[in-house]
Amino acid sequence: MMLRAVVTGVLLSQGGSLLAAHTLKTTKMFKERHLRRRATTTTAAYVVDAGTENATVLRAETKPMATYFLGSNETLFQRYLDAAGLTGSIESIELCPEIREHRERAAGWWREGLLIVSDRDAWRHLVRQQTELPTMNAMEAQLEGGAMRAALMWQTAREDLVAARKFLDVELPGVQVTDRKSLQFVLDYFKERFPYYRDKCECCGADGSTFVGEVACVSDEEVRVRRARRAELRVCESCGHLVRFVRANDVARVLRDKRGRCGEYSKAMLSVALALGLPARWVFDTTDHVWVEVFFEHKWIHLDPCEAALDMPNLYASWGKNGSVVVAFESHKAEDVTSKYYPDPASVTTIRQQNNLTDSMIQTILDQYTANSTKTREAYKSSILAALKPRGKPFSHPIPALR
Ligand SMILES: *[C@@H]1O[C@H](CO)[C@@H](O)[C@H](O)[C@H]1NC(C)=O
Ligand SMILES: *[C@@H]1O[C@H](CO)[C@@H](O)[C@H](O)[C@H]1NC(C)=O
Ligand SMILES: *[C@@H]1O[C@H](CO)[C@@H](O)[C@H](O)[C@H]1NC(C)=O
Ligand SMILES: *[C@@H]1O[C@H](CO)[C@@H](O)[C@H](O)[C@H]1NC(C)=O
Ligand SMILES: *[C@@H]1O[C@H](CO)[C@@H](O)[C@H](O)[C@H]1NC(C)=O
Ligand SMILES: [Zn+2]
Repeated sequence: MMLRAVVTGVLLSQGGSLLAAHTLKTTKMFKERHLRRRATTTTAAYVVDAGTENATVLRAETKPMATYFLGSNETLFQRYLDAAGLTGSIESIELCPEIREHRERAAGWWREGLLIVSDRDAWRHLVRQQTELPTMNAMEAQLEGGAMRAALMWQTAREDLVAARKFLDVELPGVQVTDRKSLQFVLDYFKERFPYYRDKCECCGADGSTFVGEVACVSDEEVRVRRARRAELRVCESCGHLVRFVRANDVARVLRDKRGRCGEYSKAMLSVALALGLPARWVFDTTDHVWVEVFFEHKWIHLDPCEAALDMPNLYASWGKNGSVVVAFESHKAEDVTSKYYPDPASVTTIRQQNNLTDSMIQTILDQYTANSTKTREAYKSSILAALKPRGKPFSHPIPALR
C-alpha cells in the first residue's frame, strides 16, 4: 500500500542557513537573508510517498562508536569527522521508512546521540513519525508544534522566573517598569547584552561556519541542566573548530551564557517580563519567529527581545513576511493574534487556503492547548503572581550606561 504523508521542512529557528541580522539597524540585511531563506522553506511542505522515498544514512566506523549522518553529503560528513578528530571510512546505507526495523534502528541512533541530522525532512519521516504517518497538513503540524513548545515552556516557568528574578537583581537592581521608557530601557539592555547567535566561532571568533546538522542531546549536563533536546553542529571555516550550539531551554543558563536566537531569548524575555511583574505571553509565528507580548497600558503589546522592538506589530509585515498564523500562548489559554501582526486579511486568508488550513483546525489546536493546560499551569499562574513581590527601589534615571 502506498502511504502518503505530508512532511514539513520548517522547524523553528533551527536550521542550515540561519536567520541573519536580528536588528532594526540592519533590517535590509535581515530582509535579504530572511527572504532568501523563506523562498526555500515556504515550499518545503511536500508529499512523500512513503513506499518509494528511502533515507540515505552515511555511516562511519569511528572510535569509540560509529557515527551516522542522515543525508547524502559525504563531503560535509567528512569535514565533520575531521573537525571532531574522528577517523573512519564512510559507507552509505539506505533506510526505508516503511520498514519498522529501519525506523527503530534510526530512532535508536538518534536517541543515543549518534545520528547527525542534515536532512530534516528525512528525519521527520524516518525517526519522528515512527509508528504513524501524519494526517495533519504541514502548517497545522507546525502550529501544534508551537503549542507543544508553549506548554513545555510554561511547565518550567516557575524556576525560570526565579532565575530571571536573580538576573534582574544582579544586572538591573532597582529597575522597575513603570512606563514605556523604562520598558524600552530593559529591552535595549537585553539586546545589548544578549547578541543574536548566528554562526560566530567560539574558538577563533570568526564569522562564518558551515552547518553540519543537528544531534540529540544526551549528556546529563545538556539534558538535565540545560534542558536541551538538540544541539547544532557547525564547523568553523577559519580554524576548523567544531562548534556545538546547544539549544538550551533553561532560562538560568541562557541568561548566564548569553547565547541564543529568538527561541532562547523569547523564553528568557518571557521570564524577565514576568519577573518584572508584567503579565506576559509567548508568541509563535509559523513563519519562523517567536517573541513576547506583555500586558501593559491595559492591553497586550508586542515586545521582541531580538529586535529591542516595543509595540511595533507591523515590523514583520514591513520586512515583507507573509505570515498567516500567529498565536499568543498564556499559561492556560491561547489566542489567534494574526491580524495584529499581519493586518491584510485577504493575504492571510489566501495563505491559509493555499495551505489547506481552516479556521476550525486552528481553533481545535487552541482549544486543545487550553484543555491540556492542567491544574499545574493554573496553580502556577496564581502562585507566580502571588510570589511577585514589588521590586525594591523605583526605577531611576540616569540609567546604567550600555557598553
Ligand atoms: C555538501 O556540503 C557542502 C558544505 O555545506 C556544500 O558546499 C556542498 O555543495 C554540498 N554538496 C552537495 C552535493 O550538496
Ligand atoms: C529502499 O530500501 C530498501 C531496503 O533497504 C530496498 O530494498 C529498496 O530497494 C530501496 N528502494 C530504493 C528506491 O532505493
Ligand atoms: C509575499 O507575498 C507577495 C504577494 O503574493 C509576494 O510577492 C512575496 O514574494 C511574498 N513574500 C515572501 C517572503 O514570500
Ligand atoms: C491542499 O489540498 C489540495 C487538494 O487536496 C492539494 O492538492 C494540495 O497539495 C494541498 N496543499 C498543501 C500545502 O497541503
Ligand atoms: C494535547 O494533549 C494531547 C495528549 O497528550 C496531545 O496529543 C496534543 O498534541 C496536545 N495538543 C496541544 C495543542 O497541546
Ligand atoms: Zn574558528
